Amino acid sequence: AGVFTYDPGFTSTASCDSTITYIDGDKGELWYRGYPIEQLAAQSHYLEVCYLLLYGELPNPDQLLDFETRVTRHTMVHEQMHYFFRGFRRDSHPMATMVGVVGAMSAFYHDSIDINDPVQREIASIRLIAKVPTIAAMAYKYSLGQPFVYPRNELDYASNFLHMCFSVPAEPYHVDPALSRAMDRIFTLHADHEQNASTSTVRLAGSSGANPFACIAAGIACLWGPAHGGANQACLEMLREIGSVERIPEFLARAKDKNDPFRLMGFGHRVYKNFDPRAKVMKESADEVLDLLGVHNNPTLQVAKELERIALEDEYFVSKKLYPNVDFYSGIILEAMGFPTSMFTPIFALSRTVGWISQWKEMIADPQNKIGRPRQLYVGAPRRDYKPLDQR
Ligand code: CMC
Repeated sequence: AGVFTYDPGFTSTASCDSTITYIDGDKGELWYRGYPIEQLAAQSHYLEVCYLLLYGELPNPDQLLDFETRVTRHTMVHEQMHYFFRGFRRDSHPMATMVGVVGAMSAFYHDSIDINDPVQREIASIRLIAKVPTIAAMAYKYSLGQPFVYPRNELDYASNFLHMCFSVPAEPYHVDPALSRAMDRIFTLHADHEQNASTSTVRLAGSSGANPFACIAAGIACLWGPAHGGANQACLEMLREIGSVERIPEFLARAKDKNDPFRLMGFGHRVYKNFDPRAKVMKESADEVLDLLGVHNNPTLQVAKELERIALEDEYFVSKKLYPNVDFYSGIILEAMGFPTSMFTPIFALSRTVGWISQWKEMIADPQNKIGRPRQLYVGAPRRDYKPLDQR
């Protein structure tokens, strides 16, 4: 017995103290360690943002060089992992593969799973940030039936990821610096987002003392759902299905219909009741990338912009404060870069890995940390006596 606060979906429960990320949902503001996301997206780059999230301050030049060197040295995965990959069906979704392979990192790197040793925690963090792009690219290559491409350490983080995804031994992929910059910005925009579902999953898994690789695998599994990170794939598929601006009203009517489970993907947010600041940057980036690639009158982008315009004037969306979120425009950029929709959520997962680890490290170091163990309101059968099979 006991009296508990009933809060399904944790809409009003703070589960921890945190110094990492701040969101003001009414104003549409997002800060990492106090720095507004717009400034970081325009002036910083992903590995610097990783340093900031992990250690709390922007690095000086020596600290940044040291951090980049440490990450770069860990980009390869244990050669034995190639065989592990080969156990999956070729047509597996890359998220399915990633949940398995990242979870299996605790078997390959069991010299960094002692959570009570700060040195091991640090090595595990660096390994995860360094290897998750390699694993995501391997999942993609495996699904294509192409050979795995090894990382190249002279490339920056985003260029290296593009190289591992798009190079083949017969022909190296030329990484356009502007595309690599756009990729890097996507990583930065997704790097952390306080106590969202996957981050809370990582914290809950970690609260039992589970090792960091197992916890991040749990985060990846949670992220996959269409209400969360899976929305970027679902959104592009929806925009393609709408196909032309004439069909927008039909889909808007479905989104508003209480009896239709259809929702406008890439719209709405638990915390933002205003523009998601990440969506604004993403929209500008989409224009830039399509211009750069010489894609004009892209029908998906046209549908997206018109859908946004109509929805923002529609009484239903206005009254419920439903605005485009980060997933609304990201898929258009990723598609233009050459990624299939199945790679959108893995790219979200690799970007968010640093946020998950930063939150996990903060939790482990917090003296208040104890196992996460919500209670419930029991509404099942009252006490009753067992009946043997022949009496039922
Ligand atoms: N289309 C149509 N109606 C919507 C939508 C939508 N996308 N989102 C919310 N609503 C309605 C919902 O039906 C409800 O109406 P009512 O009050 O009449 O029952 C009201 O708005 C509040 O919605 P909710 O489901 O109670 O809100 P929530 O905070 O539990 O859900 C959400 C937030 C993001 C899951 C939801 O907005 C959604 O399903 N959006 C589409 C999926 C999506 O884009 N997810 C990405 C989120 S951002 C990045 C990430 O996490 O990956």
